[in-house]
Amino acid sequence: MKLKSLLFALALFACGNCQLSIVNCQLSTAFAADALITVNAKKLGAPIQPTMYGIFFEDINYAADGGLYGELLKNRSFEFPNPYTGWDISGKVTLMNDGPFERNPHYVRLAPSGHRDKHTMIENHGFFGIGVKGGEEYRFSLWARVPDGGSSKLWIDLVDNATMEEDQKLGNTGVEISGKEWKKYTAIIKPRKTFAKAHLRVWADSKVTTDVEHISLFPVKTYKDHENGMRADVAQALEDLHPGIFRFPGGCIVEGTDLATRYQWKNTVGPVENRPLNENRWHYTFTQRYFPDYFQSYGLGFFEYFQLSEEIGAEPLPVLNVGMACQFQNGDDAHAACTKEGLQEFIDDCIDLIDFANGDPATNQWAKLRADMGHPAPFNLKFLGIGNEQWEQPYFDRLAIIAPEVRKAHPEIKIVGTSGPNAEDGHFFNGWKAMRELKADLVDEHYYRNIDWFKKAMNRYSDRKFYTKDGPRVFAGEWACHDSGKKYNHAGASIYEAAFMTNIERNADLVHMATYAPLFSHVEGWQWRPDLIWYDNLATARTASYYVQQMYMLNAGTHVLPTTISIAGGQPAANPVPEGEDGIFASAVIDKQRGEIIVKVINTFADARSLRIDITGLAKKQLAALSQVEVITLNCSDYDAENMPSKPERVKPVASQTTITSGSLVANISAKTFALYKVKL
Ligand code: AHR
Repeated sequence: MKLKSLLFALALFACGNCQLSIVNCQLSTAFAADALITVNAKKLGAPIQPTMYGIFFEDINYAADGGLYGELLKNRSFEFPNPYTGWDISGKVTLMNDGPFERNPHYVRLAPSGHRDKHTMIENHGFFGIGVKGGEEYRFSLWARVPDGGSSKLWIDLVDNATMEEDQKLGNTGVEISGKEWKKYTAIIKPRKTFAKAHLRVWADSKVTTDVEHISLFPVKTYKDHENGMRADVAQALEDLHPGIFRFPGGCIVEGTDLATRYQWKNTVGPVENRPLNENRWHYTFTQRYFPDYFQSYGLGFFEYFQLSEEIGAEPLPVLNVGMACQFQNGDDAHAACTKEGLQEFIDDCIDLIDFANGDPATNQWAKLRADMGHPAPFNLKFLGIGNEQWEQPYFDRLAIIAPEVRKAHPEIKIVGTSGPNAEDGHFFNGWKAMRELKADLVDEHYYRNIDWFKKAMNRYSDRKFYTKDGPRVFAGEWACHDSGKKYNHAGASIYEAAFMTNIERNADLVHMATYAPLFSHVEGWQWRPDLIWYDNLATARTASYYVQQMYMLNAGTHVLPTTISIAGGQPAANPVPEGEDGIFASAVIDKQRGEIIVKVINTFADARSLRIDITGLAKKQLAALSQVEVITLNCSDYDAENMPSKPERVKPVASQTTITSGSLVANISAKTFALYKVKL
């Protein structure tokens, strides 16, 4: 142990209650701790934007269908290129193409087998199986008719195909179908036990032909109980973060591999039965992790995104296509971009979306659709992203056409432009230059980088030669620390995310939004990692990175407080750690509503350090009144520890209490630890 630490520890343990005298003693021995953190409570810094910390959703890693979206059946409308993907069929099953839903015309005809002991049946595999919980209710629904008139009976079984029990059924129900008209039928199934890999069978009547379409199974208990709702545990993990901003629906899927397969929000609203299927580029992007059954049903669409934003308390930030397909996949090929003359459709998409979110249902057709879908009140949209990871002139030219039209129609909306996929290359600098010229309100920056990069980037936003006082503000829209060769969610990388965020926080005048990415991942369906939240068919795991984000989001504060760190023998500085090295990082905020000073300290060293935190700038009486301190610590020293649904709590925050005396708090911070000190005012 270093001499100063030893002195500090001796003083701490020998003096027991008389902390005041320890403090005085420390002061007279050049503070006798590895780091002295001084927080000036008098000088309010920049306000922390309510949007500062948030989430970014993209349908990657089965984030929508098979993830957040509560639907448990895959290919419910038989619209996949192989119409029976996700289904086993037996008996007399015929694919038909003149169904009741114009944009999803397929359905299947279940005809009698012609023999009492032969059956016509279709069986859905769900997404890596269907996860059901014993004793809970599941809402089965389908659209059906009896084409020859009269009535028929369908039997619906939830089954465990591999059981050693006599009966494969976990639960079942029946539905009476009547008449030649298409109608929606629903029934509740209550499985008798929990099972992650169930299948759902629909058995046909043995005497009558029945047509079936849009076959669906949802838990009754979805997040906030919406019928077309979200999986409750997964959405709850979002609510528990308390995000300030919610960016959706991507990412690269906004761009599409080609323009035809870009994300088109207008296809995602209105009755779910009539939302057309789209491919998902993450099905084929990585050939080493190939998922040919990964499509977008759009059951989770823009209405649901806005509603979820509202329910988790985040500002919505939709991102729309700028008239260009993905440049990674197409370079600057002319065929992958809309001509400048043809951009009206993209301008309309932006303006109509703002009307869908905010307009008056009495005067606007898109606002009326919102009201018809169950939300007459506006969603209060304030931000709109135009383009994701686009770069250079083709992008700048198109944004220069679209943005002024959007501004003309809706000057109240803040426009978010992009600086491309890399946070330090030529595209990035040219992107920023163009965004300044085009007067974007915010610029989206992306950096998936390793620990060495983060160690060197700890002052990124303090560079006020590049990030000027005026001009667009920063949206760190996609970022995460990936360790070289270790791309899974190991705790060791999360500690650098926590340290990097002190730089975001200290520069809250510049950075107005930051969102880790990607958000979700299914353990059996991932293409990209690390990710913030993992799940299997039954359980969810919050990663160490999740807890880092949550500690910031729950303790964002209202204003920055100027903070310096003195490393023994060194000068006080906002960040005295030499570029590229480990160290002690800190930032502080005040929460005026809660009456708290919150000091965030991160030790990235591989051993424990002693700290002293001094609150200055308060009147003597106020300082003397400070006493109670809530401490939350996240220890990431188990470097490879990864929270997964099978073992969800290897790393998690721990709460404790301490005290502060005369404005001075002494503590030890363990190796690789994020500690948050909340001082009650
Ligand atoms: O988050 C995964 C991908 O990373 C996003 O789709 C894209 O914007 C970025 O390249």
